[in-house]
Amino acid sequence: MSDFGSILLWVIYPYAMLLSFVFGTIIRFGWFRGGITAVSSEMLEKRKLMVGSLVFHVGIILAFFGHILGILIPKTWTAFFGISDETYHIFGSLMMGTGAGLLALAGIIILTYRRFSNPRVFLTSSWSDLVVNVALLITIILGLASTISSGFVEFDYRSTLSVWARSLFYLHPQWQLMATVPWIYKIHVICGFAIFGFFPYTRLIHALTLPWQYIFRRFIVYRRRPRY
Ligand code: HEM
Repeated sequence: MSDFGSILLWVIYPYAMLLSFVFGTIIRFGWFRGGITAVSSEMLEKRKLMVGSLVFHVGIILAFFGHILGILIPKTWTAFFGISDETYHIFGSLMMGTGAGLLALAGIIILTYRRFSNPRVFLTSSWSDLVVNVALLITIILGLASTISSGFVEFDYRSTLSVWARSLFYLHPQWQLMATVPWIYKIHVICGFAIFGFFPYTRLIHALTLPWQYIFRRFIVYRRRPRY
């Protein structure tokens, strides 16, 4: 790929998505706070939602912490705590990463099936709800495929892709490091950044709110209408 193509993909594109994430979130919380919601469709279908949502959230939260460990924390830090490259690859990446990824995948398959197959849920979904589901499904499949491929193909993402990702944060992007990264990882990263870019304008924004009021508020008492 030409230098221009690489700079476009590994410098301009990720910064554009991160800026969209930061400013979109500030604008959404500052001016449109009232519209922040997970847009629950529980009253339209409950069984698949309960299973799919639980499994998906457990998987994606574990995968999130896996990304912090594998991408944001340098190898030298894990080595300091006695975690060798091999231990990290087998236990952190192949076992825990694949486990988390499979949970997230099972959850998002159930949720996507539910959204597209249940007429009531489908007809009340916005375009953004449908796109978010499909985008998560594709990104999770690609992430999982990257992790599983590392069991067969020798590739150390922690000394290439992760160093590039961190270089974005200290504003000195080392885009050349992406040259040797396999395409399966690259497409996963492109999809991942797209999700970040569109995050504030979709239902995903609910992930940035913690519903503290549920812990402290009074119970809401629902009673059946008596039948006479
Ligand atoms: C919302 C966005 C994203 C989602 C839903 C997602 C999801 C996943 C999943 C499910 C896996 C499988 C392994 C695991 O569970 O950790 C994975 C792996 C991976 N992801 Fe992501 N990801 C996202 C964004 C990103 C971004 C932005 C990057 C890079 C900057 C990235 C880099 C990686 C790498 C390097 C792996 C392989 C990890 C390994 O083999 O241990 N991901 N991702």
